[in-house]
Amino acid sequence: MQNNTQTSAEKVVLRFQDVSRVYKLGAESIHGLRTINLEIKANEYLAIMGKSGSGKSTLLNVLGCLDRPTSGLYQLDGLDISKMTDSSLAKIRNERIGFVFQSFELLGKLSAVRNVELPLIYARNGWLGRRAKAIGALERVGLKERMKHRPNQLSGGEKQRVAIARALICNPSILLADEPTGNLDTKTTDEILDLFDMLHSQGQTIIMVTHEDSVAARAKRIIKMKDGQIISDILNGHHPRPAQEQI
Ligand SMILES: Nc1ncnc2c1ncn2[C@@H]1O[C@H](COP(=O)(O)OP(=O)(O)O)[C@@H](O)[C@H]1O
Ligand SMILES: [Mg+2]
Repeated sequence: MQNNTQTSAEKVVLRFQDVSRVYKLGAESIHGLRTINLEIKANEYLAIMGKSGSGKSTLLNVLGCLDRPTSGLYQLDGLDISKMTDSSLAKIRNERIGFVFQSFELLGKLSAVRNVELPLIYARNGWLGRRAKAIGALERVGLKERMKHRPNQLSGGEKQRVAIARALICNPSILLADEPTGNLDTKTTDEILDLFDMLHSQGQTIIMVTHEDSVAARAKRIIKMKDGQIISDILNGHHPRPAQEQI
Protein backbone atom coordinates (compact mmCIF):
# COMPACT_ATOMS: atom_id res chain seq x y z
CA MET A 1 0.00 0.00 0.00
CA GLN A 2 1.22 3.52 -0.81
CA ASN A 3 1.65 6.19 1.84
CA ASN A 4 2.68 9.82 1.60
CA THR A 5 6.14 9.40 3.09
CA GLN A 6 8.84 10.33 0.58
CA THR A 7 11.33 7.56 -0.05
CA SER A 8 14.96 8.66 -0.13
CA ALA A 9 14.97 8.26 -3.93
CA GLU A 10 12.19 10.87 -4.21
CA LYS A 11 13.59 13.32 -1.67
CA VAL A 12 14.45 16.71 -3.15
CA VAL A 13 18.07 17.47 -2.25
CA LEU A 14 18.25 20.86 -3.84
CA ARG A 15 15.90 23.36 -5.36
CA PHE A 16 16.59 26.56 -7.32
CA GLN A 17 13.69 28.96 -7.76
CA ASP A 18 14.34 31.83 -10.19
CA VAL A 19 18.02 31.91 -9.23
CA SER A 20 20.07 34.66 -10.86
CA ARG A 21 23.70 35.60 -10.34
CA VAL A 22 24.72 38.99 -11.68
CA TYR A 23 28.33 40.15 -11.62
CA LYS A 24 28.83 43.91 -11.37
CA LEU A 25 31.88 45.21 -13.19
CA GLY A 26 31.80 49.00 -12.79
CA ALA A 27 28.67 50.14 -14.59
CA GLU A 28 28.33 46.84 -16.42
CA SER A 29 26.18 43.92 -15.25
CA ILE A 30 27.18 40.45 -16.40
CA HIS A 31 24.54 37.75 -16.09
CA GLY A 32 26.27 34.58 -14.94
CA LEU A 33 22.92 32.85 -14.28
CA ARG A 34 19.50 34.02 -15.53
CA THR A 35 16.43 32.89 -13.54
CA ILE A 36 17.38 29.24 -13.24
CA ASN A 37 14.74 26.78 -12.01
CA LEU A 38 16.08 23.37 -11.08
CA GLU A 39 15.22 20.51 -8.80
CA ILE A 40 17.54 17.62 -8.04
CA LYS A 41 16.42 14.58 -6.10
CA ALA A 42 18.39 12.19 -3.92
CA ASN A 43 20.55 9.74 -5.88
CA GLU A 44 20.33 11.62 -9.18
CA TYR A 45 23.47 11.54 -11.33
CA LEU A 46 23.56 14.72 -13.35
CA ALA A 47 25.99 16.09 -15.93
CA ILE A 48 26.14 19.82 -16.70
CA MET A 49 27.38 20.75 -20.16
CA GLY A 50 27.79 23.95 -22.14
CA LYS A 51 30.36 26.08 -23.93
CA SER A 52 32.90 28.22 -22.13
CA GLY A 53 31.18 31.24 -20.58
CA SER A 54 27.73 29.57 -20.49
CA GLY A 55 27.56 29.68 -16.67
CA LYS A 56 28.65 26.19 -15.60
CA SER A 57 31.17 27.34 -12.99
CA THR A 58 28.80 30.00 -11.67
CA LEU A 59 26.12 27.33 -11.28
CA LEU A 60 28.53 24.95 -9.56
CA ASN A 61 29.76 27.68 -7.21
CA VAL A 62 26.23 28.50 -6.14
CA LEU A 63 25.25 24.81 -5.87
CA GLY A 64 28.38 24.21 -3.77
CA CYS A 65 27.66 27.15 -1.45
CA LEU A 66 30.86 28.93 -2.49
CA ASP A 67 28.71 31.78 -3.78
CA ARG A 68 25.15 33.03 -3.25
CA PRO A 69 22.43 33.91 -5.75
CA THR A 70 21.93 37.63 -6.43
CA SER A 71 18.21 36.89 -6.41
CA GLY A 72 15.98 33.86 -6.15
CA LEU A 73 15.78 30.98 -3.70
CA TYR A 74 18.23 28.14 -3.14
CA GLN A 75 17.26 25.32 -0.81
CA LEU A 76 19.66 22.52 0.08
CA ASP A 77 18.26 19.68 2.20
CA GLY A 78 15.29 21.99 2.87
CA LEU A 79 17.56 24.75 4.25
CA ASP A 80 17.35 28.22 2.71
CA ILE A 81 20.90 28.93 1.56
CA SER A 82 20.13 32.27 -0.10
CA LYS A 83 20.12 34.26 3.13
CA MET A 84 22.78 32.51 5.16
CA THR A 85 25.77 34.23 6.75
CA ASP A 86 29.25 33.39 5.49
CA SER A 87 30.05 31.24 8.53
CA SER A 88 26.80 29.24 8.27
CA LEU A 89 27.49 28.77 4.59
CA ALA A 90 31.02 27.48 5.33
CA LYS A 91 29.60 24.96 7.80
CA ILE A 92 26.98 23.74 5.32
CA ARG A 93 29.68 23.43 2.67
CA ASN A 94 31.94 21.39 4.92
CA GLU A 95 29.18 19.07 6.12
CA ARG A 96 26.99 18.63 3.07
CA ILE A 97 29.05 19.17 -0.08
CA GLY A 98 31.93 17.09 -1.40
CA PHE A 99 34.06 18.77 -4.08
CA VAL A 100 36.20 17.09 -6.71
CA PHE A 101 38.27 19.19 -9.12
CA GLN A 102 40.08 18.64 -12.41
CA SER A 103 43.41 19.44 -10.73
CA PHE A 104 42.79 17.22 -7.65
CA GLU A 105 43.73 20.02 -5.18
CA LEU A 106 45.56 17.75 -2.74
CA LEU A 107 48.10 19.09 -0.23
CA GLY A 108 51.49 17.91 -1.50
CA LYS A 109 53.18 17.62 1.89
CA LEU A 110 50.51 15.38 3.40
CA SER A 111 50.03 11.64 2.92
CA ALA A 112 46.89 10.36 1.20
CA VAL A 113 45.21 9.47 4.49
CA ARG A 114 45.97 12.91 6.00
CA ASN A 115 44.57 14.64 2.92
CA VAL A 116 41.38 12.59 3.29
CA GLU A 117 41.13 13.48 7.00
CA LEU A 118 41.26 17.23 6.47
CA PRO A 119 37.51 17.95 6.29
CA LEU A 120 37.06 16.10 9.60
CA ILE A 121 39.64 18.32 11.29
CA TYR A 122 37.50 21.31 10.38
CA ALA A 123 34.47 19.38 11.62
CA ARG A 124 36.32 18.84 14.95
CA ASN A 125 36.32 15.06 15.03
CA GLY A 126 38.68 13.27 17.43
CA TRP A 127 41.93 11.84 16.01
CA LEU A 128 41.10 8.14 16.30
CA GLY A 129 37.68 8.40 14.74
CA ARG A 130 39.13 10.62 12.04
CA ARG A 131 41.84 8.16 11.06
CA ALA A 132 39.42 5.22 10.99
CA LYS A 133 36.97 7.14 8.79
CA ALA A 134 39.74 8.26 6.43
CA ILE A 135 41.01 4.70 6.02
CA GLY A 136 37.42 3.56 5.39
CA ALA A 137 36.98 6.24 2.71
CA LEU A 138 40.24 5.21 1.02
CA GLU A 139 39.11 1.60 1.11
CA ARG A 140 35.86 2.62 -0.57
CA VAL A 141 37.76 4.10 -3.53
CA GLY A 142 40.15 1.11 -3.68
CA LEU A 143 43.25 2.90 -2.38
CA LYS A 144 43.76 1.73 1.19
CA GLU A 145 47.16 0.20 0.44
CA ARG A 146 48.44 3.61 -0.75
CA MET A 147 47.35 5.53 2.35
CA LYS A 148 50.88 6.55 3.41
CA HIS A 149 51.85 7.82 -0.05
CA ARG A 150 52.16 11.50 -0.80
CA PRO A 151 50.47 12.95 -3.90
CA ASN A 152 53.76 13.02 -5.89
CA GLN A 153 54.06 9.25 -5.31
CA LEU A 154 50.63 8.63 -6.86
CA SER A 155 49.39 8.48 -10.46
CA GLY A 156 46.77 10.96 -11.72
CA GLY A 157 43.97 8.43 -11.31
CA GLU A 158 45.14 7.58 -7.78
CA LYS A 159 45.28 11.28 -6.86
CA GLN A 160 41.73 11.69 -8.05
CA ARG A 161 40.68 8.68 -5.95
CA VAL A 162 42.22 10.35 -2.89
CA ALA A 163 40.34 13.55 -3.75
CA ILE A 164 37.10 11.55 -4.09
CA ALA A 165 37.70 9.84 -0.72
CA ARG A 166 38.24 13.29 0.82
CA ALA A 167 35.03 14.56 -0.80
CA LEU A 168 33.06 11.61 0.60
CA ILE A 169 34.37 11.60 4.14
CA CYS A 170 31.65 13.80 5.63
CA ASN A 171 29.00 11.73 3.86
CA PRO A 172 27.87 14.70 1.74
CA SER A 173 24.38 15.28 0.39
CA ILE A 174 25.94 16.05 -3.00
CA LEU A 175 29.20 15.12 -4.67
CA LEU A 176 30.11 18.03 -6.98
CA ALA A 177 32.73 17.33 -9.61
CA ASP A 178 34.15 20.01 -11.93
CA GLU A 179 35.72 18.30 -14.99
CA PRO A 180 36.89 15.42 -12.75
CA THR A 181 38.49 13.55 -15.65
CA GLY A 182 39.87 16.60 -17.46
CA ASN A 183 43.49 15.73 -16.57
CA LEU A 184 43.23 11.98 -17.06
CA ASP A 185 43.86 9.64 -20.00
CA THR A 186 41.02 7.58 -21.49
CA LYS A 187 41.65 4.42 -19.47
CA THR A 188 41.93 6.27 -16.16
CA THR A 189 38.87 8.35 -17.07
CA ASP A 190 36.89 5.11 -17.44
CA GLU A 191 38.14 3.88 -14.06
CA ILE A 192 37.09 7.10 -12.32
CA LEU A 193 33.69 7.01 -14.08
CA ASP A 194 33.30 3.37 -12.98
CA LEU A 195 33.92 4.55 -9.43
CA PHE A 196 31.23 7.25 -9.85
CA ASP A 197 28.86 4.53 -11.11
CA MET A 198 29.57 2.48 -8.01
CA LEU A 199 29.00 5.47 -5.69
CA HIS A 200 25.79 6.29 -7.54
CA SER A 201 24.60 2.68 -7.14
CA GLN A 202 25.28 3.04 -3.40
CA GLY A 203 22.94 6.05 -3.27
CA GLN A 204 25.29 9.01 -3.74
CA THR A 205 23.85 12.11 -5.46
CA ILE A 206 26.38 13.30 -8.07
CA ILE A 207 26.58 16.51 -10.10
CA MET A 208 29.40 16.71 -12.62
CA VAL A 209 30.48 19.43 -15.04
CA THR A 210 32.05 18.15 -18.23
CA HIS A 211 32.49 19.27 -21.83
CA GLU A 212 32.93 15.71 -23.10
CA ASP A 213 29.90 13.89 -24.51
CA SER A 214 31.40 10.48 -23.66
CA VAL A 215 31.77 11.51 -20.00
CA ALA A 216 28.31 13.08 -19.80
CA ALA A 217 26.87 9.89 -21.33
CA ARG A 218 27.65 8.08 -18.07
CA ALA A 219 25.25 10.35 -16.13
CA LYS A 220 21.52 9.66 -15.87
CA ARG A 221 20.43 13.24 -16.59
CA ILE A 222 22.11 15.85 -18.76
CA ILE A 223 21.61 19.62 -18.52
CA LYS A 224 22.93 21.94 -21.21
CA MET A 225 23.58 25.60 -20.49
CA LYS A 226 23.85 28.66 -22.72
CA ASP A 227 24.10 32.34 -21.75
CA GLY A 228 23.34 31.59 -18.09
CA GLN A 229 20.23 29.56 -18.87
CA ILE A 230 19.35 25.89 -19.00
CA ILE A 231 18.53 25.22 -22.65
CA SER A 232 17.91 21.50 -22.33
CA ASP A 233 17.36 19.00 -19.54
CA ILE A 234 17.13 15.38 -20.61
CA LEU A 235 17.06 12.02 -18.93
CA ASN A 236 19.82 10.06 -20.61
CA GLY A 237 18.31 7.89 -23.32
CA HIS A 238 14.90 9.61 -23.07
CA HIS A 239 13.11 12.41 -24.88
CA PRO A 240 13.81 15.99 -23.79
CA ARG A 241 11.91 17.53 -20.91
CA PRO A 242 10.45 20.94 -21.70
CA ALA A 243 13.38 23.38 -21.54
CA GLN A 244 13.27 26.41 -19.29
CA GLU A 245 11.29 29.26 -20.81
CA GLN A 246 13.41 31.33 -23.18
CA ILE A 247 13.44 35.09 -23.02
N1 LIG B 1 33.90 36.81 -11.09
C1 LIG B 1 33.31 37.21 -12.22
N2 LIG B 1 33.20 38.52 -12.51
C2 LIG B 1 32.58 38.92 -13.64
N3 LIG B 1 32.07 38.10 -14.55
C3 LIG B 1 32.16 36.78 -14.34
C4 LIG B 1 32.80 36.26 -13.16
N4 LIG B 1 32.74 34.91 -13.21
C5 LIG B 1 32.10 34.60 -14.37
N5 LIG B 1 31.77 35.71 -15.04
C6 LIG B 1 31.02 35.78 -16.33
O1 LIG B 1 29.82 35.04 -16.18
C7 LIG B 1 29.57 34.27 -17.35
C8 LIG B 1 29.54 32.78 -16.99
O2 LIG B 1 30.86 32.38 -16.61
P1 LIG B 1 31.22 30.93 -16.05
O3 LIG B 1 30.21 30.53 -15.06
O4 LIG B 1 32.64 30.97 -15.60
O5 LIG B 1 31.07 30.03 -17.35
P2 LIG B 1 31.67 28.57 -17.71
O6 LIG B 1 32.13 27.93 -16.45
O7 LIG B 1 30.54 27.86 -18.38
O8 LIG B 1 32.81 28.80 -18.64
C9 LIG B 1 30.66 34.64 -18.34
O9 LIG B 1 30.16 35.68 -19.16
C10 LIG B 1 31.78 35.11 -17.46
O10 LIG B 1 32.59 36.05 -18.15
MG1 LIG C 1 34.04 27.21 -15.98
